[in-house]
Amino acid sequence: MGNRTFAMIKPDATRNGHTGKILDRTIQAGFKVLGAKLIRMTKAQAEGFYAVHRERPFFEELTTFMSSGQTMVLALEKENAVAAWRETIGATNPAEADEGTIRKDFATSLGENAVHGADSDENANIEIGFWFTGSELISNQ
Ligand code: CMP
Repeated sequence: MGNRTFAMIKPDATRNGHTGKILDRTIQAGFKVLGAKLIRMTKAQAEGFYAVHRERPFFEELTTFMSSGQTMVLALEKENAVAAWRETIGATNPAEADEGTIRKDFATSLGENAVHGADSDENANIEIGFWFTGSELISNQ
């Protein structure tokens, strides 16, 4: 068993028909999917999930966007999952993302950047707990 991270396929990517391609890239990169759910988060849920950014100038834009359509929330497992997922998705700003990363290929802007990844093990557990109950996380073994 490896570590866990929390990921999201954001409304821009689901709207543009990229959900399947991003999931395929995720699995091909060696991540095991422990949980997956298609949701449409409310504005209040977006504000709660991103509470750490409450004072940022982009908070309103971010929470409006994240509640604008479908999001796939994912609990992923891999050795060093948090760092491995951040490497797989690339820089937050797609203009700075490396070739071959998910954001390089699917993100359109800093605000609409296709995917999310937790930034630490601690936040990964908090974020997984925000969207999943323990019994919704399933091992394939
Ligand atoms: P994410 O990894 O989901 O975490 C916070 C999000 O805020 C980030 O991805 C970006 O999509 C968004 N974000 C960060 N900086 C800005 C910005 N300057 N303007 C708009 N959105 C931003």
